[in-house]
Amino acid sequence: MNVLRFDSEASWVQTAAELFEARLRERPDSRLCLPAGNTPLPLYQRLAEDVRRGALTFAQATLFSLDEYGGLAPDDPGRCASMLRRHLLDHIDLPAAHLHQLDTLASDVDEVCRRYDASIGAGLDLTLLGIGRNGHVGLNEPGSAADSATRRVALHAQSTEAAAAYVRGAALPTWGATIGLRRLLESREIWLLARGAAKAHIVERLVRGPVDASVPASLLREHPRCWLFIDDAAASRL
Ligand code: PGA
Repeated sequence: MNVLRFDSEASWVQTAAELFEARLRERPDSRLCLPAGNTPLPLYQRLAEDVRRGALTFAQATLFSLDEYGGLAPDDPGRCASMLRRHLLDHIDLPAAHLHQLDTLASDVDEVCRRYDASIGAGLDLTLLGIGRNGHVGLNEPGSAADSATRRVALHAQSTEAAAAYVRGAALPTWGATIGLRRLLESREIWLLARGAAKAHIVERLVRGPVDASVPASLLREHPRCWLFIDDAAASRL
C-alpha cells in the first residue's frame, strides 16, 4: 500500500481531485466504484465544480455505488443512494443508464446482489473507499473474507451507530448490502480515503497492524495499486 500523507485537508482534497481527474481523462470510460459517507464529500464538491465549469466529464464513465443500507425509507437522506445523489450525481453529467445502485428495497436482495456482482463484469477500474472506525470497507464488516461476494450483510453495532450521523429517523439500519471484498480486490486501482482525527486509531491499525480479516481494510494492503490518502489529523498516530 502506498501512503499519501497530506499536511492539511485542503491539500488532501486538491491532490485527490487532480489524480481522480487525471485517471478519468486517461480512461474516460472508467468503471468507477464510489462510496457515500462523509469522507469523500469535499472531493465530490470539487469534482462537481469541475464538471460545472466544463473541465471534467463523466459522460462515458460507469458508476457502481459501493453499498447501501437496508430497512430505511426510500426517501431517507441517509440512504447511500440519497447521499451520492445529493453530493455528486445531481451535479455531474453521468448518464442515468451508466449508474448502478444496490436496491435494498427489492423483495429479493440476495438476487439483487448476485446480479450486481455480475454487472461489474470484467471488473472495476478505480475504486474509492472510506474506512469505518471498525476497519470496514463498504459494509464488509470485521471478519469478512477476502473472497467475499457482493452480498447482504448484518451490520456491526459500531456501523449501526455510525449510521446515526446520516439517517433521518430514529430507527437505525441493522443490515445492508455491499460490493464484496473479492470485487474490490480485483479493482485495477484502489484508493482508501481517510481524513479527520476520528480515523487516527483505525489508520494506525491499518498501516502498522497485521493484515487480517479483523480489519478488512488491511486486506487491501497487498494490492499492488492501493493508495491510502490521509490528512494530518488522520495520520496523527503514525
Ligand atoms: P465516513 O464513513 O466516511 O462517514 O467516515 C466511512 C465508512 O464508515 O465506511
